[in-house]
Amino acid sequence: MNYVHLLDNYHVKNIIVTGGGGFIGSHTCLALLEKGYNLFVIDSFENSSLKSIDRLLEIYKSKKYNPKINLKLFRGSLCNKEFIKGVFETVKKEKKEIDGVIHFAGLKAVAESILKPLLYWRNNLIGTINLLDIMEEFNCYNLVFSSSATVYQSKNNFLLKESSELGPINPYGNTKYTIEVILKDLFKSSFTKWKFASLRYFNPIGAHESGLLGEDPKDIPNNIFPLIINTALGLQKELKIYGNDWPTPDGTPIRDYIHVMDLADSHIKVLEFLINSKSICIEFNVGTGVGTSVLDLLKTFERVNNIKLPYSFDKRRVGDASYVVADNSLFTSTMNIYPRRTIEDMCRDGWKWKRLNPHGY
Ligand code: UD1
Repeated sequence: MNYVHLLDNYHVKNIIVTGGGGFIGSHTCLALLEKGYNLFVIDSFENSSLKSIDRLLEIYKSKKYNPKINLKLFRGSLCNKEFIKGVFETVKKEKKEIDGVIHFAGLKAVAESILKPLLYWRNNLIGTINLLDIMEEFNCYNLVFSSSATVYQSKNNFLLKESSELGPINPYGNTKYTIEVILKDLFKSSFTKWKFASLRYFNPIGAHESGLLGEDPKDIPNNIFPLIINTALGLQKELKIYGNDWPTPDGTPIRDYIHVMDLADSHIKVLEFLINSKSICIEFNVGTGVGTSVLDLLKTFERVNNIKLPYSFDKRRVGDASYVVADNSLFTSTMNIYPRRTIEDMCRDGWKWKRLNPHGY
């Protein structure tokens, strides 16, 4: 009797994941599948690979005996509103309701955004507005949004709180900031419907421990970790460290690196939090709260992977800050979750992925 009751009440949650083929998206899809969610994944695959989906399913199947694959894939752009509507209609035809949306899709290369601001505004802004429009049409009000620590003014030398001063300095950051503002406006329009959480990611690196899933930038990367890896692979002669005259103990800038699987787990916690909460609009810093300098990161990578990385010091990169580290106390206390993977784990897993897949997917 109790069993029947339990089964009656058991509701498999249906989640739409936009950008599910990307770096953070694919790791989060895997974590969601493993927790038993039913996924509807949207991706244009313009900046990601379809193979990331094959890989995450391969990992999922290898861990479970006779697993049911609860993942449906929809290829298309959020700039096409009819396409988004089609996804929601497909779900409805299956007599299912979408319990929440995790919205990763968006362009994210800072340098490109400076050269092509309209491309960034169109993709990130219009895509998000289209998504929100269709969510409203289908009475779906729970959204986890991929924001970034880039929304902060980062001239300071203290831990960044959610209440710290905002002020992005490039079009990419401006789109993230503006979407946060849109979510706030929408929330204020009713105070009873929407539930929004913007996750301000610090520096996600690493890869799934299997080495099957990881970051696969299509263009020449600008971020430190893919460049460390390229140096380890011999694809570039040496790593250029942008400045050794910063006001930090070793003179190189400090960042808050977080393992992509800790980030993936965080999304599930936030999604559950939204589903179970009243109408809300909240921003969370998602970082470890621990700072690591560029030299520390490089030395840790060398040590755990037993590799020598040639490097030289270059001049400071325009727009960089010396210290960008999260005060993650709001997130950890609200979610009761703590990032558990170390810088060593990030360096080991990230290298394993690229060693096994030197050309990406
Ligand atoms: C950068 C973006 C930020 C974005 C984030 C995640 C800039 C100014 N900021 O942040 O908007 O949200 O990536 O995608 O581009 N470094 C080197 N040598 C290199 C590359 C980087 O020394 O070849 C240093 C940088 O000076 C920085 C640190 O490594 O101090 C981390 O750089 P990066 O990985 O690009 O991340 P952020 O600068 O934190």
